[in-house]
Amino acid sequence: MRKIRVGIIGCGSITKHRHFPEYMAHSQAEIVAVCDLNEDRAKGYAEKAGAKVYTSYQELLSDSSIDAVSVNLPNALHAPVSIQALKAGKHVLCEKPMATSIEEANEMIQTAEQEGKTLMIGHNQRFVASHELARNYIKEGKLGRVYSFRTAFGHGGPEGWSADGRDSWFFEKDQAFIGAMGDLGVHKSDLIRYIFDQDVKEVGGFVDTLAKEDASVDDNAVCIVKLMDGTMGTLTASWSHNEFGDNATVIYGEKGVLRLEDDEDYSFIFYPVEGIPEKKDLGKIQTNEEGGQTSSGVIDEFVESLIEDRAPLVTGEEGKKALHIVLAALESSKTKRIISI
Ligand SMILES: NC(=O)c1ccc[n+]([C@@H]2O[C@H](COP(=O)([O-])OP(=O)(O)OC[C@H]3O[C@@H](n4cnc5c(N)ncnc54)[C@H](O)[C@@H]3O)[C@@H](O)[C@H]2O)c1
Repeated sequence: MRKIRVGIIGCGSITKHRHFPEYMAHSQAEIVAVCDLNEDRAKGYAEKAGAKVYTSYQELLSDSSIDAVSVNLPNALHAPVSIQALKAGKHVLCEKPMATSIEEANEMIQTAEQEGKTLMIGHNQRFVASHELARNYIKEGKLGRVYSFRTAFGHGGPEGWSADGRDSWFFEKDQAFIGAMGDLGVHKSDLIRYIFDQDVKEVGGFVDTLAKEDASVDDNAVCIVKLMDGTMGTLTASWSHNEFGDNATVIYGEKGVLRLEDDEDYSFIFYPVEGIPEKKDLGKIQTNEEGGQTSSGVIDEFVESLIEDRAPLVTGEEGKKALHIVLAALESSKTKRIISI
């Protein structure tokens, strides 16, 4: 079978750590083109993959031999570039948050449908082993009625991650549209919908800039979230969890407590009300530092969904629902009201 011919648009850190190595490792994918405004950055990958270099994504999209693209660009470019790519006949794997508004997200979804192409969003938290197991435990009733949860994603900020360090687009509202809540909060927004297998009903949030003096976007968010069945929890996103990052989720149920990515040795711990604790080391969650889980699962899922001609696990609709939670948190922070979704 012919391999999926992939173009990567944006050759910054997410390409370096996830998309490039994971496409390279996939036996049924082939990177044939890479694009970045910074030509030298793109050239390094092109040499390793034997791919063509572009500095214009429009030119890359006009290459009819490319089947699919990764859109790994600053957030404000996600929707316009994904829509152009879909119209050019490419399947699209777009990084998160998928868009800057529900209108943009809808246009991406509709364009994919009209063109008969796949649109997947890069929400990798679903593919983390502890999260998948937690979802199964809840589905099987091992926690009984779930009452509440807390989930958090925090690190020291994108200056320690972005290819452009302190000068990164991540801090500029016109390119990023949103800060920590969109960068990290959207991951946990997707995760809670996935783990509990239900939608979010209401959101209240404080979304502010406390730590990054020159940023025109938020760097800290603390939200309260209510699910459709009444389960309630907190969702925290931060770019100022300095030195000691957080990626934990704790779930409190009638029959016990689940601690996910909340212990140095065990990624999954279940404390039943009756019986002995179950502790599992399922491999570490991905972090911005070296040593995290090596594969995000996202690229494998994208390539395999194309080969198997099926919908990917994280469709545009799923990405839109995570984005909606983030936008509700912003609106709540601004209006001082609880927002119904
Ligand atoms: N799924 C995850 O866990 C995860 C983690 C980090 C980042 N991301 C997402 O990945 C995307 C990219 O983030 P990053 O961390 O790689 O950023 P980055 O700053 O490291 O890299 C962005 C790259 O895009 C290039 N670029 C900007 N505008 C361009 C244009 N018009 N044409 C071509 N290239 C252009 C820049 O030159 C830079 O090399 C963002 O949406 C981010 O939210 C996802």
